[in-house]
Amino acid sequence: MIRGFIFDLDGVLVDTPNLHFAAWRKVARSLGFDLNESQYEELKGLNREASLIQILDWGNTKLSSQEFNDLMVQKNEWYLEMTATMISDDALPGVHEFLKAAKDLKLKIGLGSASQNARKILDQVKMTNYFDVIIDGTQTTKSKPDPQVFELGTKKLNLRPSSIVVFEDSKAGIKAAIDGGFKSVGIGDRKTLNAASMVYKGLYATSPLKVIEQFNFKS
Ligand code: BG6
Ligand code: MG
Repeated sequence: MIRGFIFDLDGVLVDTPNLHFAAWRKVARSLGFDLNESQYEELKGLNREASLIQILDWGNTKLSSQEFNDLMVQKNEWYLEMTATMISDDALPGVHEFLKAAKDLKLKIGLGSASQNARKILDQVKMTNYFDVIIDGTQTTKSKPDPQVFELGTKKLNLRPSSIVVFEDSKAGIKAAIDGGFKSVGIGDRKTLNAASMVYKGLYATSPLKVIEQFNFKS
């Protein structure tokens, strides 16, 4: 029995993955190398620190902890500049409708995001009020693919992982959902997210009822 939905933010509710990536590319270029499309997929879902560790590894670059922290701050400044003008209309297609329909079904609704900017972005796109619980990068110590972010949300919702569907656009997030015992729906490319139980191009392409029916049919 499905009782709750937990949504990732970046790439599921808002179209920000390309902005995170653009800011990380600026970081990489400032260090003398570049990032490519397949690295873009690998970075999705990782928190800020884990992302920079991965990027430095790709660039074969070592930094002092001061330089590391300064670059994380710099990346975030670039990211915030890029998202400063985001408003309600910048939600991905069908998201407001999907969240409203989930509320109408009396499902519990959580956010499980690695981003420390999650609350700010949710406020900008006027989505905060849909959520019964918001877990973001300010409350977690482990990056996806660790399931911690979803487990914290689940505890606060007082539900079991098996009664929750996680919606994710990243490979790391789908792995986190599966490892935590959650049901998983991929949002994006079917090939990239093939570990998920089902994949849709966007929330516009389905509805809460359809997702629940599909899981009931599977079990
Ligand atoms: C995730 C994104 O949601 O949040 C990552 O997929 C990003 O690309 C991560 O690095 C951390 O975000 P922030 O806003 O805390 O730097
Ligand atoms: Mg994401």
